[in-house]
Amino acid sequence: MPWPYHLRCFNCHTQYPTQTTNYRCEKCGGLLEVSFQILGRKTPWKNRGLSVWKYRELLPIDNERFVTTLAEGGTGLHHCRRLSREIGLKRLFVKNEGENPTGSFKDRGMTVALSKARELGKRKVVCASTGNTAASLAAYSARAGLKCIVIVPEGKVAASKMLQVMIHGASIFQVSGDFDEAMRAVVTLTERRKGFYLMNSLNPFRLEGQKTLAFEVCDQLDGGTPDALVLPVGNGGNISAIWKGFTEFQTLGVTKTRPRMIGIQAEYASPIAKAVKRKQDRIQPVTNPRTIASAIRIGSPVNWTKVLPAINESRGTAETVSDKEILRAQRDLASKEGIFVEPASAASIAGLRKSREAGRVDRSDLVVCVTTGHGLKDPSVADHLPHHESYALKITQPDWIERLERML
Ligand code: F0G
Repeated sequence: MPWPYHLRCFNCHTQYPTQTTNYRCEKCGGLLEVSFQILGRKTPWKNRGLSVWKYRELLPIDNERFVTTLAEGGTGLHHCRRLSREIGLKRLFVKNEGENPTGSFKDRGMTVALSKARELGKRKVVCASTGNTAASLAAYSARAGLKCIVIVPEGKVAASKMLQVMIHGASIFQVSGDFDEAMRAVVTLTERRKGFYLMNSLNPFRLEGQKTLAFEVCDQLDGGTPDALVLPVGNGGNISAIWKGFTEFQTLGVTKTRPRMIGIQAEYASPIAKAVKRKQDRIQPVTNPRTIASAIRIGSPVNWTKVLPAINESRGTAETVSDKEILRAQRDLASKEGIFVEPASAASIAGLRKSREAGRVDRSDLVVCVTTGHGLKDPSVADHLPHHESYALKITQPDWIERLERML
């Protein structure tokens, strides 16, 4: 059983019951969040293996029988020595979320949101997506036997993500336009038809699963916290969820500090980074966002009201990166550390490099970069690789081994 919790408005703090299916406050329209009573509690999870459900006391599922899982979380925190040296850092770790069941961090949220959807008696779940949310929702819906509907921007989703959605049997609807149009369609649909349950990061239960990344990082650092946590930002659900996780661990007394949160966006899809840099308290949506990192090609991030306080309270910052910088970072991580991530995820490495050069990250800082999705999700980057020599090997010739050696 979870510790006592309720829903409350992030903006005006009006409280709502635990089985609320709305995601906005009826009074002020603010986003809802889950709030646990945790002060003074003892943590019972020390001897449990690393996973999302290790922290089940802090996950809002009342009845265990509804839990739908594919063994999510427990991803590696990889010490990247070569890249640390190159970037000019003492300690860089990569929390590789591509190791999740469907290859992205979305699975952390989806296991919780899908379990909650079942607990709430929902039969049809729906999301807008740049690909990963759709792939994850499709898989968990298949596992739970729920009807899954995904709405995606036509022609703008990476090939393997579409493959995942198809193989898991979801119904796919394509809208012309960007993710932002797909999102508007989902919001309108779920407002007009209560039978469809919204599974985007506006759903407060989903974010509860995603906060477990913070718990895992602290546990993997033996109760320490990083000085800075760097991650790509699209809608801003993940950065706000992870910040909430760090805050809960600090309130519990498990950790003493919280990291600076550094959000990275692609330069032509960067409403949040712009607002942070200009010290504005609201964002200016971007029309026609562009970037090779299709996962974060988002002009109107739905969670911006949660993101700006997370970055500001943490004394963090935001950075923009170009496609060229993203592709370089992707190759660096793959060729120097053996970790293959999709372009959006590589944005975190590219952004760290820039933040370090600008002096916003110190050499002595312990930094964790979150790589959010697996590299195999987006094969289109092959078109951007520099020429890679491969040689014909004529094994019928007697001296083929000598020839091979000469080529090296
Ligand atoms: N990285 C990847 C690989 C993503 O797929 C996303 C979001 C993000 C980062 C940004 O996370 O939105 O919480 O700030 N993908 C969503 C999707 C939009 O539909 O799959 P965020």
